[in-house]
Amino acid sequence: MTTGSRDVRTFDSLDALSEAAADEIVRLARESVRARGRFSVALAGGNTPRATYELLATRHRDVIDWQHTVVVFGDERFVPADDPHSNYRMAREALLSRVPIPPPSILAVPTGARTVEDAARRYDATLKQALRHQAPAATVDLALLGVGPDGHTASLFPGTPALIDRAHWAVPVGAPTAVQPAVPRVTTTLPFLDGARTVMFLVAGKDKQPVMREILSDAESARRYPAALVASHGRMLWMIDRSAMPDDRSNA
Ligand code: 6PG
Repeated sequence: MTTGSRDVRTFDSLDALSEAAADEIVRLARESVRARGRFSVALAGGNTPRATYELLATRHRDVIDWQHTVVVFGDERFVPADDPHSNYRMAREALLSRVPIPPPSILAVPTGARTVEDAARRYDATLKQALRHQAPAATVDLALLGVGPDGHTASLFPGTPALIDRAHWAVPVGAPTAVQPAVPRVTTTLPFLDGARTVMFLVAGKDKQPVMREILSDAESARRYPAALVASHGRMLWMIDRSAMPDDRSNA
């Protein structure tokens, strides 16, 4: 498989990382709209991207073409949309409710579905319908991702069946045991993430240092970490704050 180049950038603080990430997103949004008439982005959950989303909603609000932006979610916890653990809720509060994006362009995981399996089935169909015209060239222009201290990314957890699914873009996942919140999830799959024109990891916090050491070393052992398995056909950008960066690589 042809994989893109890996660009690793280190920042002194989460603020600096967030500013650089927001600048890069603005650049990619402009480039995508210019080249293909729209910008499609898969948002990450967790805490790290919040400051980046807030910058997009404030400093960069007027320079992004929201009318031609489509937002999907890389993963979601199977909780109601107003639950404090909802990734949609975080994205809505930090970004989506503050910018003029047309509501039909926000494709949230249907967590009101009866079961997490139903929600995943529906989301798989939604993604394929909304993004299919870009495939097989690409799924989305940009997939934002985080890394958990156990090496998970999106809701792809180590050793779980979702990691080997090649047929779907979204699948159900049982509640994780190693990280919180311990609720079932819907996650996009490796074929979906690998199909992003750009994958941008946002990684912050000292608890990520051990897994980042292995992932950045390209050791065979890193392959037990789902984050190390994402291999975009396009560009891979790692934005890492100094606390998450292994000491021996902090000048990388
Ligand atoms: C989720 C996420 C998950 C997250 C990482 C990092 O829904 O839990 O999408 O993959 O990105 O756990 O989270 P933090 O940024 O909070 O460390």
